[in-house]
Amino acid sequence: MTIDTKAQAVVYPPSPDFVAKAHINAERYEELYKASIADPEAFWGAEGKRIDWIKPYTKVKDVDFTLGQVSIKWFEDGTLNVAANCIDRHLETRGDQTAIIWEPDDPADEALHISYRELHRSVCKMANILQDMGVRKSDRVVIYLPMVPEAAYAMLACARIGAVHSVVFAGFSPDALGARVNGCDAKVVITSDFAPRGGRKTALKSNTDKALLHCKDSVKVLMVRRTGDQTTWIEGRDHDYNALFLEADDTQAPVEVGAEDPLFILYTSGSTGQPKGVVHTSGGYIVFAGMTHKYTFDYHDGDVFWCTADVGWVTGHSYIIYGPLANGATTLMFEGVPTFPDAGRFWAVCEKHKVNQFYTAPTAIRALMGQGKEWVEKYDLSDLKLLGTVGEPINPEAWNWYNEVVGKGTRPIVDTWWQTETGGHLLTPLPGATAAKPGSATKPFFGVEPVVLDPQSGEEIHETAAEGVLCIKSSWPAQMRTVWGDHERFEQTYFSDYKGYYFSGDGCRRDADGDYWITGRVDDVINVSGHRMGTAEVESALVAHETVAEAAVVGYPHDIKGQGIYCYVTLMNGVEPSDDLRKTLRNFVRQEIGPIASPDLIQWAPGLPKTRSGKIMRRILRKIAEDDYGALGDISTLADPSVVDDLIENRMNKS
Ligand code: WTA
Repeated sequence: MTIDTKAQAVVYPPSPDFVAKAHINAERYEELYKASIADPEAFWGAEGKRIDWIKPYTKVKDVDFTLGQVSIKWFEDGTLNVAANCIDRHLETRGDQTAIIWEPDDPADEALHISYRELHRSVCKMANILQDMGVRKSDRVVIYLPMVPEAAYAMLACARIGAVHSVVFAGFSPDALGARVNGCDAKVVITSDFAPRGGRKTALKSNTDKALLHCKDSVKVLMVRRTGDQTTWIEGRDHDYNALFLEADDTQAPVEVGAEDPLFILYTSGSTGQPKGVVHTSGGYIVFAGMTHKYTFDYHDGDVFWCTADVGWVTGHSYIIYGPLANGATTLMFEGVPTFPDAGRFWAVCEKHKVNQFYTAPTAIRALMGQGKEWVEKYDLSDLKLLGTVGEPINPEAWNWYNEVVGKGTRPIVDTWWQTETGGHLLTPLPGATAAKPGSATKPFFGVEPVVLDPQSGEEIHETAAEGVLCIKSSWPAQMRTVWGDHERFEQTYFSDYKGYYFSGDGCRRDADGDYWITGRVDDVINVSGHRMGTAEVESALVAHETVAEAAVVGYPHDIKGQGIYCYVTLMNGVEPSDDLRKTLRNFVRQEIGPIASPDLIQWAPGLPKTRSGKIMRRILRKIAEDDYGALGDISTLADPSVVDDLIENRMNKS
C-alpha cells in the first residue's frame, strides 16, 4: 500500500488525561526502552517475574542468530505452567470476576459471562477428558472449532497438561486440516458439529471426517455440540465432549513444563506452497504476551478488552486468550462477523458489554466505513478508552474514520505491527507515551531492536530516515523458536538472506522522527483482509486442476481487502476459456485451501513472462495487476517479450 506523504505531517500526541492514568508515559518509555536495549539480561530478568514460575530461572537469554546454528532460548532453566498462570493464580483474588465474555453469532441468543472459577472448572474437565483420551505432555492436539468458549478451554487444557495445540481456523478446508493434522502428527482433533457464523453454518464435523480420511487411523476426535444438528458418528474414534464433560473431574493438577517446552504450533503461509508450523514455547511467550497486552492497550484491572480476531490466528492466541488471561483481564470472545445481523454489530457489542479497549483489523474498518457512520452513531460507545488495529497497513482514510467516528477524536489508536512469528507486538505506539501518525506503527516495544537494511547490500542504514527491509537485530522472549520438524527451513526462511538478523519479510520506511511505516511484504506473501496467503499455495491449488497447465498468482490493491488475489492461468491445450471455467477454478481453490484463498480475478494467459532460463518474472505480473504499466522496467531479458503485450491488453478489470 502506498503511503500518503501528506499524512505524515499529522501527529496525534496522547491527551494529558490519558497520560495521567497510563501505565507508561513518554519519559518512562524512553527510560525503560533504553534500559531494555542496554542490558537485556537485567531488563528481562526482572520482567520475567510478572508470571509465576514453579522453579525460577537463573538464566535469562541464550540466543544465537548465526546461520547454521540458530538457537533461541529464554528463561531456559525455569519451569512453569502457562494455564495456571492464566487461571489458577487469579482464583484467590478474582475468582468471581468474569474471565471470558462470550457473545454468540446470533444476538438473540444469550451471551455468557464465565468467571475465573468457572473457567478453572471447565479447563480442568477438558484436561481430564484429553488425558483420558491418551493425550500426554508434548503430544499434539489439533483444535478446529468455532469461536466458542470451548476453544479457549481446549487451548488452556492443552497448556495445562503440557500438550501442544495447533489451532486450525474453522474456515480452512478438509484438505488444509488434514495436512495440519499430519504435519504435527496430532493424536486428537477437537471439533464441533457445526460452526455458526453470520447466520450460516459450516459443517466442521463433516470437514473433519473428510480430513481424517488422509490421516492415521489412530487419530481420535472430540466433538463439542454447538448447534445440536445431526452429524455422522464413528464409534470408537469419535468422543462426545458434552457427555464426557458431565462426568469429568473438575480438578486437575497442572503439569510442570520447561520454559522452552512448546506451547503451540500455528501454521502460517510463507513463500513456498507449504505452510510452516511456527513453534512458540512457554515461558518467554507468556511473559511477552502478558506484558504487551498490558502496555500496548494500557489495560487496567476491571477493563473489558475485546480483540475481534479468531483464535485460528496468532492475534486470537496472544490477545484473546494468553495475554489478557495472564493479566487477569476480562476478555471478550465473539463468534460472529461485523456485518451480521447488520453493519452495527461491532458497536452493538461494544455498547452491550461496555467494552473499554477494542482491537480489530483495517479490512473490517474499511468495510464498515463503506456502510456509513449512522451504524456507529446508533450506539453508546462512551466506555471505549482505546482503539487498536493489526494485520496490515492502515490507510490514513480508514485511520481517520476510526479516530473520528468510532473514537470521537478522543481515544488513542494503536497500530500494532507484528507477525505469527513474533508472538506479540514489536512495533506499536504506547498510548500514553507515543504520538500517533495515521498509517505508522511508530516505535519499537521494549527490548525490540528494529533495523532497516539495504535490500541489495544487506547493510544497516544508520541514518534515521531510511527505506529498505525490516529486520530485527536481537531476540525478544516471544520469538518463534523453530519450524515444526524443520529447523533448517526456519534458518533458511528467517536468517539466511540477511546474516545475523531476523528477517521479517516486510519492507518499511523510517521517517525523520524515527517512526516506522510498514510498506508491505517483500516476498511472495500477500495480505488479503489481514490474512496471510502464500501466492505459491494458490498456484499449487490451481495447477492441481485438470484444465490448468500453469498459474502465477500476485496481489493487487483492493479497496476493502487491502490486497486481492489476481491469478494468471494458462490452460491445457484444447481447453476453452469461459466464465464458467473461472467459477469452477475459484470453487476448486476454495475447496483445496478455504474461502479465504478465493481468487478475485482470473486472467487467461496464453503465455507467462519468463526469463530465458524459465523463471517467471513476477515483478512484471505484479505491475500489470496493479495497473502500473509505466513501471514495467526492463523486459529485454524475457524469452518472449510479446507475451507482455497480450497480458496488458487482456488485463482483468478490477471492478
Ligand atoms: C502484516 C498478524 C502493517 C505484515 C499479527 C506482517 C502489518 C504480516 C501490521 C503478519 C501493521 C501485521 N501494519 N502491516 N500494523 N500488522 N502486518 O502472521 O505484512 O498473520 O508481516 O500476523 O501482516 O501477518 P500474521
